[in-house]
Amino acid sequence: MKPKVYIAKPVSQQVENYIAEYCDYRMWRGEENIPKEVLMEEIQDVEGLMIPKAKVDEEFIKKASHLRIVSHIAVGYDTLDTDLMSEHNIIGTHTPYVLDDTVADLIIGLMLSSARRISQLDHYVKAGKWDKSDDPFFLSKDVHHATLGIIGMGRIGEQVAKRASLGFDMNVLYCNRSPRPEAEEKYGAEKKTMEQILKQSDFVLTMVPLTDETQHLIGDKEFKQMKKDAIFINPSRGKVVDETALIGALEANEIGGAALDVFEKEPVDPANPLVTMENVVMTPHIGSATADAREAMAMKAAENLVAGVTGGKPENVVKELKHLV
Ligand code: GLV
Repeated sequence: MKPKVYIAKPVSQQVENYIAEYCDYRMWRGEENIPKEVLMEEIQDVEGLMIPKAKVDEEFIKKASHLRIVSHIAVGYDTLDTDLMSEHNIIGTHTPYVLDDTVADLIIGLMLSSARRISQLDHYVKAGKWDKSDDPFFLSKDVHHATLGIIGMGRIGEQVAKRASLGFDMNVLYCNRSPRPEAEEKYGAEKKTMEQILKQSDFVLTMVPLTDETQHLIGDKEFKQMKKDAIFINPSRGKVVDETALIGALEANEIGGAALDVFEKEPVDPANPLVTMENVVMTPHIGSATADAREAMAMKAAENLVAGVTGGKPENVVKELKHLV
C-alpha cells in the first residue's frame, strides 16, 4: 500500500505525476489558499504533507497523528515549531538552493527601483507628466560603485554580492556568524560588525532567517546609525525589522528610503503608513515568484516528501530536525 499524503496547493502535472508514482494523494485544487478548516480535516489520516507554509503548532500536531513529514515549499520555515516537531518525531524540510538566483534578482530590482525611483516615475509618466525641470526629486541615487551592506550572508546573500560586485562595481560589506571566504575572494566582500555596516553602507540589506534572535534585529537604534540617505532593503521576513521604527525613521528622514518585499503583517494593511510613502517601494512577498523557480521548489518539495514517507532520507531537512533522519 502506498503511503497517504496531502498536497495543500495545486502543483504542475509533472510534480503531481511524480508524487502519484509513490504515494496515495489528495490535493487542494482551489486557486485561493487552502482554508484552515480544510487543512485541519485533511491532515488527519496522512503521513506526509506538502504545503507552501504550514503553521505547525500544538493544535496542528494533535490533529495530524499519523504525520511523519511536513515538506515546506519555501526556504524560510519560521512557521514550524521545530521543538514540538522533534518531540513528535515529525521531519520538516524546505527548498533551499533552487530559488537563490531568483530572489537575488529581485533584490537587485528592489535596489535599482528604489535608488532610481523607477516605480515612482512609472506612475509619473503614466499620469501624463513629463516635465523634469530642476526638481531635485529627479536626481536619484547611483547604485554603481556604492556600498552595499549585507546583514546575513547566506546563499542568497552571496548571489546578491556577486551581482553587486561583478555587475555594478559595488563595495560589498557583510556580517555573518561565520566568515564567507569565497565571497571575500570572488566578490571582494569584507566582513564587518553590524554597526560598521549600518554606518558605512549606502544600501543596507537584511537577509537573515527569522528566529528568536533575529526578531526586530533592526529597530530605532539601528536606523539612527544608518546614513541619512541610506536605502534599507528587506526581502527576508517582516518581523526581522521593527516596522514602527522603520516608519518613524522614514518620517524623520533618518534614512533615504526603503524597498520591502516582506512586512510584519501580510497582506499589508492599506492603512499602513508605508503604503503612501513616496520613498518606499513595496512588492507582495514575491522573492521566489517566477514560474521556473516555483516549479523547481515544488519538485524539490515533492522529492523531500516522497523520501520522508517511503523510508528514504530527504535531502533538505531543516537543521533543527536533522537528528530525526
Ligand atoms: C519565501 O519567503 C520563502 O521562504 O521561500
